Amino acid sequence: MARQRTVASRHAHVPPAAGGDAAPVGRDDLLGRLRRAVGEAVAGRGLIVLLTGEAGIGKTTLLKEAARYAEGAGARPAWGWGWPGGGAPGYWPWIQVLRALGLDDQLSREAGETAADDAPASARFQLFDEVTSLLLAESRIQPVVVLLDDLHAADEPSLLLLDFLVRRLPAGAISVIGTYRGPGPGPALAAVAARAAVLPLAGLPAGAVAQLMADVLGERPADAVTATVHRRTGGSPLFVQQVSWLLKDGQTGIPPGVREALAERFAALSTACTAALGAAAVIGGRFPAGLVARTLEQAPEPMAEALAEAARAGVLTGDAPGAYRFGHDLFREFAYERLPAAERAGLHLGTGRQLEADRARGADVPLAELAGHFVRADPGSDLAHEYSAAAAREADGRLAYEEAARHWERALAAAGESPATTTGTLLALAQSRWRMGAGQAAGQTYLTAAGLARRERDAVGLARAALGLHEIGSRIWWPAGQLVTVLSEALDALPEAPGATPLRLRVMGSLARVLAWHGLDPPRARALAAEAVTQARAAGDVPVLAACLLAQHNALWAPGTAGERRAVAAELAALAGQTRDRELLIEAHLLAATDLLELADPAFRAELDGFTRLADATSQPRFRYAALARRGSGPPGARHRRA
Ligand SMILES: Nc1ncnc2c1ncn2[C@@H]1O[C@H](COP(=O)(O)OP(=O)(O)OP(=O)(O)O)[C@@H](O)[C@H]1O
Ligand SMILES: [Mg+2]
Repeated sequence: MARQRTVASRHAHVPPAAGGDAAPVGRDDLLGRLRRAVGEAVAGRGLIVLLTGEAGIGKTTLLKEAARYAEGAGARPAWGWGWPGGGAPGYWPWIQVLRALGLDDQLSREAGETAADDAPASARFQLFDEVTSLLLAESRIQPVVVLLDDLHAADEPSLLLLDFLVRRLPAGAISVIGTYRGPGPGPALAAVAARAAVLPLAGLPAGAVAQLMADVLGERPADAVTATVHRRTGGSPLFVQQVSWLLKDGQTGIPPGVREALAERFAALSTACTAALGAAAVIGGRFPAGLVARTLEQAPEPMAEALAEAARAGVLTGDAPGAYRFGHDLFREFAYERLPAAERAGLHLGTGRQLEADRARGADVPLAELAGHFVRADPGSDLAHEYSAAAAREADGRLAYEEAARHWERALAAAGESPATTTGTLLALAQSRWRMGAGQAAGQTYLTAAGLARRERDAVGLARAALGLHEIGSRIWWPAGQLVTVLSEALDALPEAPGATPLRLRVMGSLARVLAWHGLDPPRARALAAEAVTQARAAGDVPVLAACLLAQHNALWAPGTAGERRAVAAELAALAGQTRDRELLIEAHLLAATDLLELADPAFRAELDGFTRLADATSQPRFRYAALARRGSGPPGARHRRA
């Protein structure tokens, strides 16, 4: 996660622009609730509050006020944002939160080690556990208030991590205050909202509207004018501000909605200025002037003047030197939406090309951002495929599986005519879906890949699809007949060369496991597994040999074979040690314990202890449950309950 530090220079990393930092008016009740949330964090009883309401209603403004209050109350505020406009790298809000607390380096080290050693689901559990524990530990040093703005635009992995943290808040000196645009939360956010106090924001009262108008007009408006504006805007602060700008410019009528108000304000700008705003809106909420000029292939000086005009009109705000940001994200959205489709696509292509060149020169441009531009430029293009696939691989490496799956879906839509590319993309998509826990969808995707590989006589593709399907079938229910058919087809299609390929041996092992596990053909299962083990041993391929031995242990499983199985389990444990495969080692101990117990060998106790010790250490519910169930002495009272 730390690698993205310099990306922040081009994206939101200070509280988003909300037109000045004056204290909010007309929100005393809500501010009271937010102060209580901060107070609970300081008291060590963390909780979550979510502010919701339409765009421009004042959510971010309240969040900023809560941050100020938190600091005054002795808590550390830590901000994170969704990425407006889509295309955020996974965990983006959390990257910022951890960075704010100085914890990001620590986390990237932990995540790196975790990802290398473990299976996807467990790696991710450990990542979530790690982040949550880091935050809770930090809160013991000084209470923390996490401020998460624009959660409607957050990536799904981030929301899953939030859900994970929220369950542990009551034990920590940490509260979360989040915002999302209403009306309702999306599906991933709904799980979080169910545990939160959700506070909807309505329009401001008339007194507050008068105050907001006075800020723009420089004087308090007449009561009748305030009353009309209050009625026509519903008290939406952003709308009130835009109307006030129009009144200040001498306009008398009030547009029916905030977008109409923005349309009128944009109509007053020069052509060069609106063109610059269009390109800027494609780039994002904050942008360097130089990038806008390069995208539009214009000289820097006229561009500087066009952007300065937008700043004078209050649409942009000066940011870092040579950089601007939109005064409000609604301005960016509006500038983006008014672009004709073809122009918008062209600007995405131009921006993508410029950022691609920047990345080649060493700038830290996320692949997800590049992919986003090329997909929006042309969702069927080679560039869209290439960068979506690259972004997917990167997301997978960061354990952001949902994000990876979404990139693979886009890569699939852009896979073009080549069946090999399509099959490869389908296989990768299936794997990401499996990793994110969407077993049924993953299995269907493997079947689609298998169908295509079959038609194209692509033996390797078919084998990879069959193995993927088997992996699913070994964890969730899947029709055994279908597994046998696809694995058998794959086995037949792969050449029976001397020194069979690792792929073929894995297929043999998987077929043996399915045949044995479902009792479909135990003798054939044993023969296949034995053959696979012999060949894997001859090939000297340790991971393949481990997979084949596991298959053999399964295939042998019958009364009277414990002696044979015990030898297999011992070899498995040795191989797991060699390859540092923690999950295989845990499994090997459990298999050995079972075998020894069947042999009435007291050595089973040591194996079982080895299993429970390792299983406990993973802190994963799946293993800890298994350990508890086999320990024979659970928590007080658990022992007798089963009887
Ligand atoms: N209570 C308030 N007092 C004074 N000004 C306010 C208040 N609430 C909002 N504003 C002003 O209204 C504008 C919009 O508010 P804000 O950015 O907080 O809205 P938001 O709900 O976060 O919108 P979005 O959903 O687009 O992020 C800002 O310019 C802000 O300064
Ligand atoms: Mg906001």
